[in-house]
Amino acid sequence: MGKASYKASIALFASTPGTSMALAIGKLLRVPLGKVRLERFSDGELRAQLLDDVVGKDVFIVGPTHAPTDNLLELAFMADAARGGGAKCVTLIIPYLSYNRQDKHKPGKPLSSRVVMDLLARSGASRVIVVDIHAEHTLEHFGGLEVLHLSAAPLAAAYVKKTLKKPFAVASPDRGGIARAQALATLLGASDVVFFEKSRHEHGAVKSMTTATPEKITGKHVLFVDDMIDSGGTLVQAAAVAKKAGAKTVSAFASHAVLSGNALKNLQSALSGLILTDTIPHVALRSKQARVTVLPLAPLFAQTIIDLMSSRPSKARAKSPQKSRRTR
Ligand code: R5P
Repeated sequence: MGKASYKASIALFASTPGTSMALAIGKLLRVPLGKVRLERFSDGELRAQLLDDVVGKDVFIVGPTHAPTDNLLELAFMADAARGGGAKCVTLIIPYLSYNRQDKHKPGKPLSSRVVMDLLARSGASRVIVVDIHAEHTLEHFGGLEVLHLSAAPLAAAYVKKTLKKPFAVASPDRGGIARAQALATLLGASDVVFFEKSRHEHGAVKSMTTATPEKITGKHVLFVDDMIDSGGTLVQAAAVAKKAGAKTVSAFASHAVLSGNALKNLQSALSGLILTDTIPHVALRSKQARVTVLPLAPLFAQTIIDLMSSRPSKARAKSPQKSRRTR
């Protein structure tokens, strides 16, 4: 399929928080953003309607699902509307997938990740595209959906290669993030990842942060890698431990800028550099912030759409025995 012909068969839509990303993707693909009417019933419930024809189309809907929960529902409703409207295929592009932190059964606690993925899996989509989700093993909860799990690490590595001074060390602020940090370290040509041990209070705040190998940090420019920053507590505490261990500078890369409360301000004081992506359209990141770099992901999503729509086999479409697969 040539570029011109696939463009005609794409319909691109966005939920409210996905609009800026979808516009950027649409600009790269030269595909207009579909019209949506979003209203509320008098009690506040959402009422969504796709205003453009989707019959026989490959529909792509962009929608990060960070709080409030209406963001999640808006995306699910749009997927159902696209399916009901006769779309050939409905793909959800979810730059940030929320509710992924309760990923294991614990007494009295829900498996929130599964509840949310179940909802999306039953919403009418046949494919989802996600980025650096917190707990990769939860992707199985998408059931029969085709899942493309993209990584922002190559983009981060390209930026870090130009900016991070040597000697450097790549670090993970907790055990759960070692593989993520290792992936970036490998792209940077570093063999080793320094990992920290983190514990939290029952209410979620970081209780302790330690590393068993402080000598690997001494005299180094340390780059922490994490999937997301919420309160910022993890990275603020990790930076303090790294500085105490004699790090020359401490910077961090995280894919998802949730940045609740004073996270951004606290991180700007604690770090010499913070690299984020635009998976969440955080208000504060619309303007230039000291020591903060935001890497745009629209080119990655646009290329993924091109690969999917192209007739030539691509990495994104390669047959794999696994239902979900890491691409890029
Ligand atoms: C936790 O396991 C995650 O990978 C992040 O480290 C965590 O969610 C960050 O949260 P916060 O910024 O609130 O410490």
